[in-house]
Amino acid sequence: MLGPEAANLSSQSARDEAARQEERQGLIEFHVVANCANASRQILTWLVEIQNVFARQLPRMPRDYIARLVFDTRHRTLALVKEGRVIGGICFRMFPSQRFTEIVFCAVTSNEQVKGYGTHLMNHLKEYHIKQAHSMYHFLTYADEYAIGYFKKQGFSKEIKVPRSGYVGYIKDYEGATLMGCELNPRIPYTEFSNIIRKQKEKLIEKKQQQISQVMPGLTCFKDGVRQIPIESIPGIMNTGWKPNSDGKRKEIVESVESLFAPLKAIVQSMRSHSSAWPFLEPVKKSEVPNYYDVIKSPMDLKTLNEQVRSKQYSTKAQFVTDAQKIFDNCRIFNSPESDYFKCANTMENFFYNKLRDHGLVDGR
Ligand code: ACO
Repeated sequence: MLGPEAANLSSQSARDEAARQEERQGLIEFHVVANCANASRQILTWLVEIQNVFARQLPRMPRDYIARLVFDTRHRTLALVKEGRVIGGICFRMFPSQRFTEIVFCAVTSNEQVKGYGTHLMNHLKEYHIKQAHSMYHFLTYADEYAIGYFKKQGFSKEIKVPRSGYVGYIKDYEGATLMGCELNPRIPYTEFSNIIRKQKEKLIEKKQQQISQVMPGLTCFKDGVRQIPIESIPGIMNTGWKPNSDGKRKEIVESVESLFAPLKAIVQSMRSHSSAWPFLEPVKKSEVPNYYDVIKSPMDLKTLNEQVRSKQYSTKAQFVTDAQKIFDNCRIFNSPESDYFKCANTMENFFYNKLRDHGLVDGR
């Protein structure tokens, strides 16, 4: 079996990993070929085969036009040969004085697509330009609508770095196609690049895992009555890469908690003293209402609300309003509209929003 199915690949493997392995095993080969006076029979056969691949994969291009360019002596083709036959290629033309190369046709035969060959082909073409064609560090192409995604993944973009005057009138402009360009970096070994990145990632992950895979002593302070500790004091937490909020942000939260504390305390106090507050003073007891917690999944009551205000758990008005609202909503979900409970919820809700308004904490409602 050939192809990515045969290679022992993981989901982390780069798209071109299988093609790279096949090349190493000699199952596929890459050749830059061109029509010239002394072209061998083998080269001419490959050129005919690649012309057929282009014609089948680019049906909107006239066949004789493809043949003309593939056999034009100014064009070269990077051919991908598998088991003696061409299965894909890139036809290109170099413009040395303008320092760019036009990618004219690019295709992989249909039953070999999306296996990484297209990526490996492009990487070979990039390396060819870096090694063989000095200072040719720009590719330009008119990409078919359906191939834009492929070209983007190969580092092409619509931002063209070659001066317009350098290519207009030189390269073929196709209707409905998008001009895309790619700048090469001569220091990148393109055919090995994804492999290098994967290995670096693995090393970094391994290093990080070694740093953090330590068993830390458990926290005992809570047994001694401590209720809260700073997160950064938990043993090992900093090694995981956790970062405390910046001082500015933390200061903002503290200020917000402090400024809300007095009004929230006053509001809850006045609610608890209201004559309609009696159903909400304490959490509903399961012993008294056995099915309550089957229906109500996020319970709330004035005692809990009060405790949360006093332990300064609210840093925004919205958090507080959300919790208070649960008291009224839960009640209306569980009880019928005719019940006293339901009526108390409505009364308390109105009272609550009036109080918020009195304290300047409500906008609109
Ligand atoms: N649109 C969007 N993404 C694509 C397309 C596409 N048409 N083709 C491939 N890709 C993606 C793949 O999913 C893959 O993404 P991933 O790495 O995130 O999984 C990535 O591009 C590379 O895939 P490869 O397997 O390396 O590419 P493939 O061997 O399939 O070759 C090619 C790509 C040449 C475009 C091939 O699909 C083909 O021959 N298509 C038909 C002909 C064509 O459209 N050619 C380009 C016309 S424009 C021109 O020639 C200048």
